[in-house]
Amino acid sequence: MASVDNRGGFGGKIAAILAAAGSAIGLGNIWRFPYITNENGGGAFILIYLACIILLGLPLLIAEFSVGHNSKCNPVDAYSKIRKGWGWLGAMGLVSVFLIMGYYFVISGWTLDYAISSATNAISDGYFQEFTTSTWSPLIYTYIFVLLTHFIIIGGVQGGIEKASKLMMPLLFAIIIALAVYSLWQPEGRAAASGVFTPDFSKVSGQTFLDAIGQAFFTLSIGMGAMLIYGSYFKKGTKIAGTAISVVALDTLVAITAAIIIFSAGVEDVQGSELAFVAMPKVFSTMPAGEVWATLFFLLLGLAALSSTISMHEAVTSYFVEKRNMSRKKAAWLVTFGAMALATTASLSLGMWSDVTILGMNIFDTLDTFTGKFMLPILGIMTAIFVGWIWKKEDMKAELTAEGGIDKATYPFVRFLLKWVCPVLVSIVFVFGVIDFIDKL
Ligand code: PFF
Repeated sequence: MASVDNRGGFGGKIAAILAAAGSAIGLGNIWRFPYITNENGGGAFILIYLACIILLGLPLLIAEFSVGHNSKCNPVDAYSKIRKGWGWLGAMGLVSVFLIMGYYFVISGWTLDYAISSATNAISDGYFQEFTTSTWSPLIYTYIFVLLTHFIIIGGVQGGIEKASKLMMPLLFAIIIALAVYSLWQPEGRAAASGVFTPDFSKVSGQTFLDAIGQAFFTLSIGMGAMLIYGSYFKKGTKIAGTAISVVALDTLVAITAAIIIFSAGVEDVQGSELAFVAMPKVFSTMPAGEVWATLFFLLLGLAALSSTISMHEAVTSYFVEKRNMSRKKAAWLVTFGAMALATTASLSLGMWSDVTILGMNIFDTLDTFTGKFMLPILGIMTAIFVGWIWKKEDMKAELTAEGGIDKATYPFVRFLLKWVCPVLVSIVFVFGVIDFIDKL
């Protein structure tokens, strides 16, 4: 194991919050949350989702930060340092985050093309289909996005990740506020948005709970080592619980604001992933100064994606640096090339390689479904079990309640959530989800 003394770290508390919020806020908030909400009964889904975030997501985020902060190691060593023989849990997270990178970089690449094409008014009907199924353009934008991530990573923890987060996150907040104010200015916008937020409990099913848990874990980057590695970079004295609460609050605010922006555009009848890339450009094209708003929207999506991809990349890179003794540069290139290769297959699977299917799904959907429906719940359950049952009780309590942690009165409640509520609830929902998935095959 490489020495942990000279590994980098964030300069302060704000940097810690911005970087971790950057990991959390991503395509999950702006691209995925609105359409899942729309498909699952609007306000009804949001209520279930909020319960999942508070009862499952927040304790797990505190747990993951704590494992990183306590061990000051990459995800694999972190678990095995706390309990011998548990490194596989970190490894499983890294494999999952690598698979997520495979399709996440592709969508991230689209945002670049869309920001540019919106500015030049080049998006017409059928553009999405034509662009995403073509061979070269989406690949080139995907590679550019991977390289953007790469160069931030080789800048180091403070010189790269921290600096980028401090620059990008305020810009992201400014753009989303501008878009929200503009959307709610229009009376029709207000009416359309409130229509979607009205709870419709008839759309709630068992699947809704699986979607809510999956979304809560995905948006908080739970179980993938990304939050763990950031926790390991927290400076002494960083308040773990406070940071986790800030991250959850910012993440939820951005998700709900994104939903308001999208639904106030009056696109509630559009389903699935096409909401952001097909329906929104159409709406923008009818607005005064539509190019400007559309460019801002896709810039927002791109910034959110970039602050997430750097955390994914860093989690895997840190493993190669510390566990395999590589230089940061070499490790980063390795991850970059690996991500490019996998993303190439995902991007081509939408066009040229659409015949290659696994259980009836193309490579892109396989990566998304496998990580989202299977790996995320399992990693959530295992992280809760690790912290609740495997970590030595006194050590875990000392870390979680250390200065800046949870206060002594709240601790038993958080421990109960991690020990019982997370594993039991997520397992039940997970089993039903798997049965449902097999039924549909
Ligand atoms: N939280 C990110 C989003 O909502 O888009 C996605 C993500 C980031 C997942 C980092 C996993 C991860 F390690």
